[in-house]
Amino acid sequence: MKIAIVGSGYVGLVTGVCLADFGHEVTCIDKDQSKILELERGVVPIYEPGLSELVNANVAAGRLTFTTDLPSAVGQAEVVFIAVGTPSRRGDGHADLSYVYAVAREVAEAVTGFTVVVTKSTVPVGTGDEVAHIIGTVNPEADVAVVSNPEFLREGAAIEDFKRPDRIVVGIDDERAREVMAEVYRPLYLNQAPLLFTDRRTSELIKYAANAFLAMKITFINEVADLCEAAGANVQEVARGIGLDNRIGAEFLHAGPGYGGSCFPKDTTALVKIGQDFGSPMRLVETTVSINDQRKRAMSRKVIAACGGEVRGKTIGVLGLTFKPNTDDMREAPSLDIIRGLQDRGAKIVAFDPQGMKAARLLVEDVDFADSAYDVAQGADALVLVTEWNEFRSLDLERLKSLMKTPVFVDLRNVYRPHEMARHGFSYVSIGRFDEDIGERVSNAAE
Ligand code: UDX
Repeated sequence: MKIAIVGSGYVGLVTGVCLADFGHEVTCIDKDQSKILELERGVVPIYEPGLSELVNANVAAGRLTFTTDLPSAVGQAEVVFIAVGTPSRRGDGHADLSYVYAVAREVAEAVTGFTVVVTKSTVPVGTGDEVAHIIGTVNPEADVAVVSNPEFLREGAAIEDFKRPDRIVVGIDDERAREVMAEVYRPLYLNQAPLLFTDRRTSELIKYAANAFLAMKITFINEVADLCEAAGANVQEVARGIGLDNRIGAEFLHAGPGYGGSCFPKDTTALVKIGQDFGSPMRLVETTVSINDQRKRAMSRKVIAACGGEVRGKTIGVLGLTFKPNTDDMREAPSLDIIRGLQDRGAKIVAFDPQGMKAARLLVEDVDFADSAYDVAQGADALVLVTEWNEFRSLDLERLKSLMKTPVFVDLRNVYRPHEMARHGFSYVSIGRFDEDIGERVSNAAE
C-alpha cells in the first residue's frame, strides 16, 4: 500500500518506519527541511533504540522515503496518517489542535481518489468530526474516510511496542475504511494483535482513558509508598501483593518521583478539560494531576531531609535527568522540579545523564554537567538517583563512596537494597521502604 505520514516527529517516524518494514511503501513528510535532509542521510533526530538501523534498512530497501512536498506524497497515497504534535495549549491545558487542523486543510487540497485519513496524534473526542468537516469544506470533491487510530507506544520501547502491540484500536464512521485499515495492519495479525474496531469518538476516548488510567495507577502506588514510609511497610511488597491479583496486574506499580514525559502529563490535563467541556467531570484524573505535580516538588524536600534539613552550600549529585531511561526526552521530567527545588534552597547541582544532557542544558541553569556517575560523585554531599538507567543499577558502591564528601544516597527509583547500602556505609533513603536494619524512616508527610 502507498502510505503518507504527515509529521516526522516521534510517533510519525516510528509509525512510518515500522509500516515500511511491514512492506508498505511509505513517505514521511515534514515541514522542517533540515530534518528531512538529515533523515535522507540516515541521521535520526531522536534517540530511540533500534530506530536508526530500521530507518536505514528501509530506506536502502526503497520502501521508505522522506519529503517536504506534502501535496505530491498525499496525492499518491491510499492512506494518510496525521501524526503532528498536540501540545498542551498555554494557559488552559486543552490540547492544541492547530497543527492537526492545518494539516487537514493541506491534505484536503492534495488527495486524489478515495483516501483514508487517519489521526494518529492524540486528539480530543470530536476531533475526527472536525477534520472531516474541514476536509469537506476546503475540498467538497474530496472522497475521504477519516479514521481515529491512537498510538500506544512507549518511548524507549517504541519499535517493539509498534510491532507487538497489546491491541490496535481503529475508530471508523465510514465502513469503507475497515478493509483499508485491516490491510495496513495485516502483518500484525501474525503477532495475533487484536484489531479493535469502534466508532471514531470511542476510539478517541480510549487513548485518553488508557493513559489516564496508567497515570492513576502510578499515582496510587506513589501514595501507598508515602503511607508505607509513615506506617513502616514496604511498597515493593505491597505492589507485588496486589499485582498478583489479575484484576490489578503487576505492571505500572513502581513507586517513584512521579510520572513525566510527553504523554501522561499532557493527556491527563487534556482529559480533565474534555470532562469539563462535556459537563462530566473526571474527578479521579483531576486529583491524579494535582498529586503528581505536588509529588515532583516534594522529592526535593525528601533530598533536603536526607541531608539533615539543610542543603545550602552543599553539592548534590543528580544521576539521571530524562523522565525515564532509554530516551533523551526531558519533557516534564521530575528531575527538573527536583533540581529547581534544591537550587532554591541554595544547593549546587552536578548532574549526569547518558542521553538527556543536551536537552537538559536548555532547561536548567547553573548545573554542572559531568561525564559519568563517578564524576558526579566527586566531592558530592549527596547523590540522588532520579532515572533508573541500566548503568546506574550496578554502580561500584565502594568507589562511589570513596569519591563523595558524605555518603548520602537518595534512591528515588528503589534500584538498590537498603541493607546492601547500609553495609557499604551509605546513609540511604528510598521510596516507600522501611528497613529495620537501618531503623530509619523518611516520611514525605513529616517534612
Ligand atoms: C506512555 C504510555 O505508556 C504509552 O502507552 C503512551 O502511548 C504514551 O505515554 P511513555 O510516556 O513513553 O508512554 O512512558 P511510560 O513508560 O509509560 O512512563 C511514563 C512515566 O511514568 C515515566 O515518568 C515513568 O518513570 C513513570 N512510571 C511508569 C512510574 O513512575 N512507575 C511505573 O510503574 C511506570
